[in-house]
Amino acid sequence: MPRMPLEFREVIMPAALPDNEAARIEALHAYQILDSLPESQYQDIVALASTICGTPMAVISLVDQDRQWFKAKIGLEATETERDIAFCAHALLHADELMVVPDAMRDPRFADNPLVTGAMQVRFYAGAPLRTHDGLALGTLCVIDRTPRELTPAQANALSALSRQVMSHMELRQKILQLEQAQAQLQQSEKMASIGQLAAGVAHEINNPVGFVSSNMGTLGNYAGTLFDTLDGYDTILRDEQVTAATRERISALRERADLEYLKLDMVDLVKESMEGLNRVRDIVQALKDFSHVGEVDWQFASLHAGIDTTLKIVGNEIRHKAQVVRQYGALPPVRCLPSQLNQVFMNLLVNAAQAIGRDGVITIRTGVENGWARIEIADNGAGIAPQNLQRIFDPFFTTKPVGLGTGLGLSVSYNIVRKHGGEISVDSTPGVGTTFTIKLPLGENESS
Ligand SMILES: Nc1ncnc2c1ncn2[C@@H]1O[C@H](COP(=O)(O)OP(=O)(O)OP(=O)(O)O)[C@@H](O)[C@H]1O
Ligand SMILES: [Mg+2]
Repeated sequence: MPRMPLEFREVIMPAALPDNEAARIEALHAYQILDSLPESQYQDIVALASTICGTPMAVISLVDQDRQWFKAKIGLEATETERDIAFCAHALLHADELMVVPDAMRDPRFADNPLVTGAMQVRFYAGAPLRTHDGLALGTLCVIDRTPRELTPAQANALSALSRQVMSHMELRQKILQLEQAQAQLQQSEKMASIGQLAAGVAHEINNPVGFVSSNMGTLGNYAGTLFDTLDGYDTILRDEQVTAATRERISALRERADLEYLKLDMVDLVKESMEGLNRVRDIVQALKDFSHVGEVDWQFASLHAGIDTTLKIVGNEIRHKAQVVRQYGALPPVRCLPSQLNQVFMNLLVNAAQAIGRDGVITIRTGVENGWARIEIADNGAGIAPQNLQRIFDPFFTTKPVGLGTGLGLSVSYNIVRKHGGEISVDSTPGVGTTFTIKLPLGENESS
């Protein structure tokens, strides 16, 4: 029978989607293996599969939404193909079975497949599904030949055993990645904690000199007042008493040389300004101490508003030149928490908001109670987050900031802290409009007390 020209017939018969497709894709992505670099363990396994089964080609194929991607391969060039033409997409449909296609030309599913009719000339295919503990098939370990054939039972068993080996390697690989990420997060929160400790230590050291300088400054102000009062007294005496013109002149020359009138005015200002400066230093020191809550490891009921306010004092500099901060605080009872840790969360969110803003921004902080939860919203009118990044921003190391600027750990650490408090953190963002992070913390036992 003459073949119809390609464009006139249905060339491919894509496999149906497995029932558990969404869960399957999510599981596959969780392995973080797609598009990873070649690794020798997987390469060894495909080499073994092709030797044992006596086929020129063997592949570890992972079936993603629209493509199959090859983690390891032997005997072929491609690194991925469309999912529509993938044999493996069919093999997935039965996660527990080895799929064998003895002759693709005689199989209606594949007879017109470009992998069969084209340069690849696939005739024989056997694929053992890569199956997770939950029964999700992520892809296959498959062997391919250009001539029709069969597998012996021993070869079929070996192929299935090797596919389980691939899964073990993938499990191990995932565990190692998770460990590395947990370690990085831990290091980051330890770093933050030790910076907090350092800050509080410095604050403590500064407190002492600030204390005596401001006390001295007060005394100095008083002394200056007394001195000028005394000088004024001399003037009165000079006016009233009989003094020679020569004495008067000598005194007024002295006064002019010293610019006494100016000194008198300026000295008052200087003392006043210095006192103001010292008060500011005192505020900053206090904010640093409040922010880091050094030595505090116990859970306690604390005001979230106080936490946000001290955090704003600390990050004020980073925000001030870009954005105005609007506080819309509702009624919020004290929340059982580790205040210094929640402050880290507020700091991360506020700094992120400021960094997303070019200029003339507004950061709005709203608080309130909702169904027994404390709710804190930190909203900005900055650049927003692209939809494809939204589900990755809480991942460790995910950053869109230039190298050296962001570690990508801020949100993942914040996420962990909020979770530790039994709460939730979520995000809502529209590119070009802005982003809102919402934290919910349980009020729990506090409500009744
Ligand atoms: N308010 C926001 N507006 C826009 N994008 C944001 C906002 N908050 C977070 N993001 C995005 O989420 C990414 C991850 O944030 P995260 O705080 O975890 O790391 P980072 O800010 O990049 O680095 P680091 O916090 O370690 O300095 C950011 O790189 C940014 O792309
Ligand atoms: Mg950040």
